[in-house]
Amino acid sequence: MKEKFEKLISLREEAKLGGGQERIDKQHKKKKLTARERVHLLLDDGTFEEIGMFVQHRSHDFGMEKQVFLGDGVVTGYGNVDGRLVYVFAQDFTVFGGSLSETYAEKICKVMDMAMKNGAPVIGLNDSGGARIQEGVRSLGGYADIFYRNTLASGVVPQISAIMGPCAGGAVYSPAITDFTIMVEQTSYMFVTGPNVVKTVTNEEVSSEELGGAQTHATKSGVTHFTASNDLDCIQQVKRLLSYMPQNCEEKTEPLRYELGDETRPLLDAIIPESANQPYDIREVINELCDKDSFYEVHKDFAENIVVGFSRIAGRSVGIVANQPISLAGVLDVESSKKAARFVRFCDCFNIPLLVLVDVPGFLPGTDQEWNAIITNGAKLLFAFSEATVPRISVITRKAYGGAYDVMNSKHIGSDLNYAWPSAEIAVMGAKGASEIIFKNEIRNSDNPEEKLIEKEAEYANTFANPYKAASRGFVDEVIIPSDTRIKLIKGFSMLENKVDQLPKKKHSNIPL
Ligand code: HXC
Repeated sequence: MKEKFEKLISLREEAKLGGGQERIDKQHKKKKLTARERVHLLLDDGTFEEIGMFVQHRSHDFGMEKQVFLGDGVVTGYGNVDGRLVYVFAQDFTVFGGSLSETYAEKICKVMDMAMKNGAPVIGLNDSGGARIQEGVRSLGGYADIFYRNTLASGVVPQISAIMGPCAGGAVYSPAITDFTIMVEQTSYMFVTGPNVVKTVTNEEVSSEELGGAQTHATKSGVTHFTASNDLDCIQQVKRLLSYMPQNCEEKTEPLRYELGDETRPLLDAIIPESANQPYDIREVINELCDKDSFYEVHKDFAENIVVGFSRIAGRSVGIVANQPISLAGVLDVESSKKAARFVRFCDCFNIPLLVLVDVPGFLPGTDQEWNAIITNGAKLLFAFSEATVPRISVITRKAYGGAYDVMNSKHIGSDLNYAWPSAEIAVMGAKGASEIIFKNEIRNSDNPEEKLIEKEAEYANTFANPYKAASRGFVDEVIIPSDTRIKLIKGFSMLENKVDQLPKKKHSNIPL
């Protein structure tokens, strides 16, 4: 029996070496950790249980039967992150460049199926040369099996993709379907077609980094939600991200025990500039309203005119969507609408209440916006809010103009509580633009048109550039002093804790994609 045990131990040691020490050293030289090192960093000490350690590929083409590695290039299993169950797969670049075979895909599918049945998040650590070229269509089929499960799992359990090396070709579509992607700077890239094909087809010369590196996807495409400076930072961010989420769509993140103290935030009373055209950083408002250091921004460097992210208010996880006056005056445009809509959908899937801070002068005008379908894309955000059944609270800090007033979680589209600060201006448009239209003749026929415009502007502003007309109709529930906002939110979210709301019965809705 002893020999049998020894054989098992030696097979385990062999599997743990993946593609061998030489390739592990190469991986380290590239400043990348191995698949197993990453898994151990991610999971609480001693909690990792591996599944499929001895799986081998079944390929006999191109002499593949002579190249067999135990585990076949992907480490799969389950364990705990901060005491919570998660399922994990980590692609092992030391085995055939982490390329995906039929059996490798089966291993990933197995843990995904378990995650769905047992209601726990799936974390994918990606580092792969794509389809295992020697396996042809069997590998492509394996990818599709994973994409299919990614789709079925969407909205059931949270799915997070860390990109820690190459991720190219159709392989990118698994991360794209998952809820969040985080890319490591310099060592990871994602693209559908690489620089060589790009050169052949379009004659453009571009490096991998420029085409699909972390910075590119964080700023230009929005494909990645986060970037990390190295593998360690990446794993730490994955853990932080998870901390805001429940295990599955049936659960809520429970409020922590929290003793209420003095929750007034006097800095907020001085945050709105005297002039309506002067910007301020909405992150300062967010940081005052939320628990200290709890704000974790999503898509930080993409579509910066809207700020979205996770945070905690009195210990409870909350999703924040906020117009950002320091970027494009906080207008809504194509990219910011898509960014916010996707975030709202995630929060609604997983019972995370939404706080919406409104200071929006409207939609960005122009041919660029219209030709890039601001109509369809703006509708995404409108639709996402309208369908969200989680507790929703809005605070109008300053402007809420035009269609953007409706879109930004207005009372009319199902928001639960809407507050406005005394600085709020809720109107069809700004006073100047409005006066130029509705008092056009009066101004033109006046002896002094300039003075008349100023007079009419003031008249319009007095009538509409305040929160009281909206409050008189109940479109705003209460006008509040800014420094009281945090306490209003704590009470409001607590009151809404057991909210039950249901959409009409249907197969699924048809969000304007
Ligand atoms: C089989 C692969 C492989 C692959 C790499 N390897 N990619 N084996 N299938 N797709 C092997 C290499 O032969 C090598 O084996 C080892 O992995 C490491 O690769 P290197 O090239 O030495 O590493 P590096 O220089 O770091 O380059 C990494 C790389 C490059 C950029 C990823 O390997 C590469 O371009 N690979 C091919 C990528 C590709 O075209 N994949 C198919 C894309 S299409 P040894 O034994 O020497 O260590 C696709 C479609 C998916 O994926 C469709 C889904 C629907």
